This record gives sequence, C-alpha cells and structure tokens, in this order.
Amino acid sequence: MTSIMRSCCTGFSRLLFQSVPNLSMRNKSTLAKMPGGLLRFYTNSPAEKNENSSDFFSRNFQPVSPALGAEVKGVDLSKPLDEKTQELIQKGLDEFSALLFRGQNLDGKQMVKVCGFLGPIAKEQHYVDQGLTLEGCPECFVLRNDKENPPLFDFWHCDKSAWKYPIRYNVLSCREIPDIGGDTLISNTRKVFDHMSEGMKKIFREMKGVYNEKNGFEDKADGQGSETNKKIVEYLKNKGFAPKGIYDKFEDQVHPIVRKNPRNNLEALYFSPPYFSFMEDFSREESMHFQKFLLDAIVKPEFVYRHHWKKGDLLIMDNSCTSHYAASDFYPEIREMHRIIITEIPS
Ligand SMILES: [Fe+2]
Repeated sequence: MTSIMRSCCTGFSRLLFQSVPNLSMRNKSTLAKMPGGLLRFYTNSPAEKNENSSDFFSRNFQPVSPALGAEVKGVDLSKPLDEKTQELIQKGLDEFSALLFRGQNLDGKQMVKVCGFLGPIAKEQHYVDQGLTLEGCPECFVLRNDKENPPLFDFWHCDKSAWKYPIRYNVLSCREIPDIGGDTLISNTRKVFDHMSEGMKKIFREMKGVYNEKNGFEDKADGQGSETNKKIVEYLKNKGFAPKGIYDKFEDQVHPIVRKNPRNNLEALYFSPPYFSFMEDFSREESMHFQKFLLDAIVKPEFVYRHHWKKGDLLIMDNSCTSHYAASDFYPEIREMHRIIITEIPS
C-alpha cells in the first residue's frame, strides 16, 4: 500500500489539485481523505506551481515507446473514477493515442462501467447472435483463441472501419495470455501522416476510402489479408455459419483517408485494408497502388509499438489515429481478451 501511495503521489493526484488552485490547503487535505478516485493519495509540493504541459505528461504518464502509448500508474479501474481522473485519462489518450493500465483484471461488465465516460458504448448484434459476447453483457465481445478457435486477426486494421460512424476507442482487457506470443502491434497513424511530404498530405486530404464489412469475411483474389480471409471463411464454414450471404446486408461506407481528432483537430491517416474496397473516384487497380503505399507507411517500425500483454492489462486505443495487428503466433495456446468499443457519433 505504501508503495502504491508513493507512486500515486508522484502521479495523477498532484495534477488534480493543480487544476483546482482555489482550494485551500485545508480543503485539499479534506479531499485527500475522501474514498475513491485519486485524491486520497495527494501530497503537495511547490513544484506543482507553474507546471508546463511536458511536466504535466511526464508526471502522470510513462511512455512505453517512442511511437506511441503510455502506462498509467496508480489508478484502480475497478473503482469509480472521479471527473478529474476521467479528464486526465482523456488528455492522456489525446497525447499518447493508447494508454496501458497494468494489473486491472477487469471483466466486460466492469469495463462498461468504467469506460462510459469516453462515449457511447456499442453493441455488436452479430456477435451477440453468434454467442460471442459475455453472458449478461452484450456490449462485451469475448475474443478467445485456443486449439479449436485459431487466431484470425493477423492483419493491419482499424476496428469497425466499415461502420457508418467509425469507432473512436477500443478497450481490451487481457484475461488469458500465453507466456510467449499473442502481442498486439499498434501503429501511430498521426505520425505516419505527419511524416508524409506536403504533396502527399494534400492528395490524401482530398481522398475517401470505400469500405465494406463483408470484405473482411470473403475470399478475395487480391489485396492484403487475402490469406486471412480464406482462413476466416474456413473457420465460419467449420462453425456452421454460412459464409455466403452472411454479410450481404452490409453496405458500402465512405470515410476520409485523413481523420481529425475532434478534441484537438490533429490529423491522422485512417486506412483499414481488410475492409477496403477502393478509393472513391479511383479504379480498383489504382486503389491497390494507394493501398500498398499506405500500408508500407503504417508498418514502418519507427511508428509501431509492440505490446507484450500481461494477464490483467487494460489497454485503451484511440482508433482514430492508430492501426493495429494481433500477432497469431501463439496457436494452439489460449489467448482471451474482452473488448468493448466506444463509438464516435458526429455532433
Ligand atoms: Fe482489431
């Protein structure tokens, strides 16, 4: 407990008080004794005054790679978060694109409870219909791989990029993980875009991608993910789902290739090959050249963080400025994740 308190004192809690400067020390010490949130760990120091933004982030978030991501320490997500802590987490996501909380062990229901402040939580009815959600919690997709259920997500993608409104955050809780393998690779597509020439930026700002959910579940003759698509079709057949027609109800959706974070207006590349059909106003053949160019940029090692999971990890990814890939190198070991997704409904 002492060590937890010590780490918290150097973490979030100071900031909470910096953001409420009018509180007297007496009020601060009263708040520090309150149960829940982070306030109970507060200690004051003169260094809190006149803090700039880099100090702000260095005290509260520990970067996990030069590409993206930060570990947040001293937060127990099984308890209700106060508003200030929620605000800090939101700011951390804006800055680092992905946040890691170790040792949380949350199930789907707890995730729904704690992540509601990030936005509306979506329910994926087709997963509910297939019995792939947590009992009593239809918002939580249970992603379990074992001997009978081989991993099938070994392609770069943004979750739900073929939905009408692309999702904003995906939240993953690690329930089971082998000692070796099963990492998730995450690319910072804001950096990918930032590193492009002004000429390419101008071109991509004008472009829109056409996506369809069924692309991810059909055996395509070309394009990235075709081998995976074959595996998925095979898997669906073995499970008794009809691969033909099952996804026909999905319509094309069109999304800009450059997506802006509505909170800070920063631009990022938004491209998801498995569901991609073509670029609006371009032929399929031409579009495949753009796909190759964009995918080569996304996978550049400088932009990628490889997350080695530990049981109990909770990871929040900003889907608007990242792309990810789940390595399928652990078969036939068990890997189980619980996932919820937060949507971005336009205002
Ligand atoms: Fe995914």
